[in-house]
Formats: sequence, C-alpha cells, structure tokens
Amino acid sequence: MQFEEIDLSEWHYILHPRPVAIVVSGDWENYSAMPASWVTPVSRKPPIAAVAIARSRHTYKLISKYREFALCILGLEHAKSIHMLGSVSGRDVRDKIVYAGLSKARARKISCPVIAESLAIAECLLVKDVEAGDHNLVLGEVLTAYVKTGVRPLNTESYSPTLHVGRNRYTKPGTEVVEV
Ligand SMILES: Cc1cc2nc3c(=O)[nH]c(=O)nc-3n(C[C@H](O)[C@H](O)[C@H](O)COP(=O)(O)O)c2cc1C
Repeated sequence: MQFEEIDLSEWHYILHPRPVAIVVSGDWENYSAMPASWVTPVSRKPPIAAVAIARSRHTYKLISKYREFALCILGLEHAKSIHMLGSVSGRDVRDKIVYAGLSKARARKISCPVIAESLAIAECLLVKDVEAGDHNLVLGEVLTAYVKTGVRPLNTESYSPTLHVGRNRYTKPGTEVVEV
C-alpha cells in the first residue's frame, strides 16, 4: 500500500467535509455570528459541545464576556450567507446576521439572537475555555436544543446540515445509509 505525505498546514482537511455551525454570542443589539467547522459534541451527560475558536475572532471576545453562545445549523441553500458571515468581522459590521441576508430570532435561554432560518439550534453556557495552539477550545454546556418543525436529525432525507469542504466550498451529506 502506498501513501503520499501531505503538507501539515493542510492536515486538518482529512477531517473535512464536516458540519459547519454558526456560533453566535452577545445580546440582541451587540452580537456577532461566525461560521465554525471545528465544532463537535464532547459529552452526553452533561451535554457539552466544543468549538475551536481563534482568539482574534470578535465572537470569541463576546463569548468571554457573555459566557454563553448559540450554535445554529443551516441548510446548503444558505451557503452564501454562511460564507459572508465568515468573511467579515462583527467588529466592522453591525447586525451581521441581517447583513448576511438572514433573520434574527429570540433565543430561548440566552441573550444573543439566533438565526431564524436554522434547521437546528443549540444554546450553550460557557463551562471551560482552554488554550490550544492558535485557537481556544471553547466548551459549552447545552442548555436547550431544538430543530425546525418537521426536521428529524437521525433521518438523512429530513436533516441536511451544510458541510464545509474547505475554503469557499460547501456540500451536504449524501442520503445513503448503511445499516450494520
Ligand atoms: C466555513 C468556515 C468555517 C470556519 N471555521 C472556523 C472555526 O472553526 N474556528 C475559527 O476560529 N474560525 C473559523 N472560521 C473563520 C471565522 O468564521 C471568520 O474569521 C469570521 O469572520 C469571524 O467573525 P467575527 O470576527 O465576527 O467573530 C471559519 C470560516 C468559514 C468561512
């Protein structure tokens, strides 16, 4: 068997495509929202999500201040909006969700807005923030999670979260399921 070495600056792409979440933090007026594809569940009990966020992100500053954040999952039809949210900073743009062509909705348990067009949303309370190289691993306990009416997360026909291929390329999961 033969393998070819890849550049370490691109090693993480062996873990893509992967789901991208829009991380939102702040309050209704003063908030930011950024796509993060380095996001994963890490605990069932209590339910905890982890996101790797660079310290330079405005969203990171707001998470440190407000100690809460939302994860919003969008379908592929919103790929342009997702990319816009990842191409500008909330430091320079007011009302970033609206700027990206999406709409704000009230969160259930935290003070930042969430994205009305989301397929699924998790609201989290910051429980730990660990430095990890050029990113920080931000751990949030999930206070509540909800899906758009009719969406069933275990059903690949019904739930199709956007996947980040890398750079400005996006896709969605296939529908083939192998049951073993
Ligand atoms: C698809 C996509 C995925 C991204 N994933 C991450 C990520 O996991 N962690 C991170 O720190 N930045 C990530 N970024 C970069 C931030 O989203 C980007 O720098 C954003 O503009 C930061 O906005 P803010 O300054 O308002 O927080 C990603 C960008 C894109 C387009």
